[in-house]
Amino acid sequence: MNRQDFPILKEQVHGQPLVYLDNAATSQKPQAVLDAIVEAYTHWNSNIHRGVHHLSQVATLKHEEARRAVADFIHARSSDEIIFTKGTTDAINALAFSVGELLLHEGDEIIVSGLEHHSNIVPWQMVCERKKAVLRHIPLREDLSLDIEAFRALLNDKTRLVSVAHVSNVLGTIQPVETIVRLAHERHIPVCIDGAQSVPHMRVDVQALDCDFLAFSGHKMYGPTGIGVLYGKREWLEQLPPHEGGGEMINHVRWSGTTYNELPYKFEAGTPNFVGSYALQKAIEYMQSVGMEAIEAHERELTDYCEAQLSAIDGVHIYAAGQPKAGVISFNVQSQISNHKSQITNLIHPFDIGTLLDQQGVAVRTGHHCAEPLIDALAVPGTVRVSFGLYNDLHDIDLFIQALQKAQMMLS
Ligand code: ALA
Repeated sequence: MNRQDFPILKEQVHGQPLVYLDNAATSQKPQAVLDAIVEAYTHWNSNIHRGVHHLSQVATLKHEEARRAVADFIHARSSDEIIFTKGTTDAINALAFSVGELLLHEGDEIIVSGLEHHSNIVPWQMVCERKKAVLRHIPLREDLSLDIEAFRALLNDKTRLVSVAHVSNVLGTIQPVETIVRLAHERHIPVCIDGAQSVPHMRVDVQALDCDFLAFSGHKMYGPTGIGVLYGKREWLEQLPPHEGGGEMINHVRWSGTTYNELPYKFEAGTPNFVGSYALQKAIEYMQSVGMEAIEAHERELTDYCEAQLSAIDGVHIYAAGQPKAGVISFNVQSQISNHKSQITNLIHPFDIGTLLDQQGVAVRTGHHCAEPLIDALAVPGTVRVSFGLYNDLHDIDLFIQALQKAQMMLS
């Protein structure tokens, strides 16, 4: 599907054609996004919201058009609910700071889940420490799904916010965010969804989900690095204090004090990444031209095919096997050593598998995937993770499986 639009896919790695299966870490960029960056710096680069001159007005218009494109893409009620950030991590850090100021007091609680990325754990740990609040997490069941009964029991009068991943960046499993939102809202508790691994792969509608906040990154959805989004319901964003001070986020600054700008500018101190927002809009338009339903169906086919191929290899253990996944599979490999009497199996370190795959041109991620609490629960040093994008095809998976079998043989 559309491989020719992505110039990097023609690269060779160690003399082999590139098989890029590390899309959960970052996606490759179509020509339209690369062209947008060159166009912006070539034709209308200028600081936004600050100049009466022509270039500044063009740049301002482009940035605000991009905001509307993002709002439409996730079906926000208004573009005022879209705050541009550096990425998911920046968005969650901003939210954690502001929520801490508005809502958190000593003894209050925040809930995350047992399978979060560090970016949805550490900012909450930091604010809980600052405010003497407590961070709780939804435990995992044996099959690595979230224990929703335990979640129900965790919710109480001290809970101030729930923040969960929509799709696990390690397991690829899709979390029951609708149920989580419903249960939290029964107690009037706001919910933040970490959409870093869902927004690039499926239609995410913030009004249908009824989440209060959604964070995601441009670079995982075919856009550039350094641009991301924090969506927030207007009623929350209006109450929350800004997390950073500087230019643009103010209404008036006096020695006696400062009043803040209206939404969304209150949360965008300093010169925004207006080239990034423009290129992100091009990435969104690219995804829309393929169609979110088509992307989701294509990646589901790739995931099912790859999981079936992996399960057929002796010594491969897939995590959350058989569960619906959004384009991500994590696994480990045992070495196969046979002597006359018995077969001995040992876990091959994921780094060793990753290195041998790389030598054959196959890019995967190995290690803890910035989700150490989950990896600790799996009781392994890490996993090997393959993750798909809209340009991958079944041939990529065949090449990966061949390379994996060779790596397993060499390390056994
Ligand atoms: N969060 C990215 C990943 O899961 C970097 O690989």
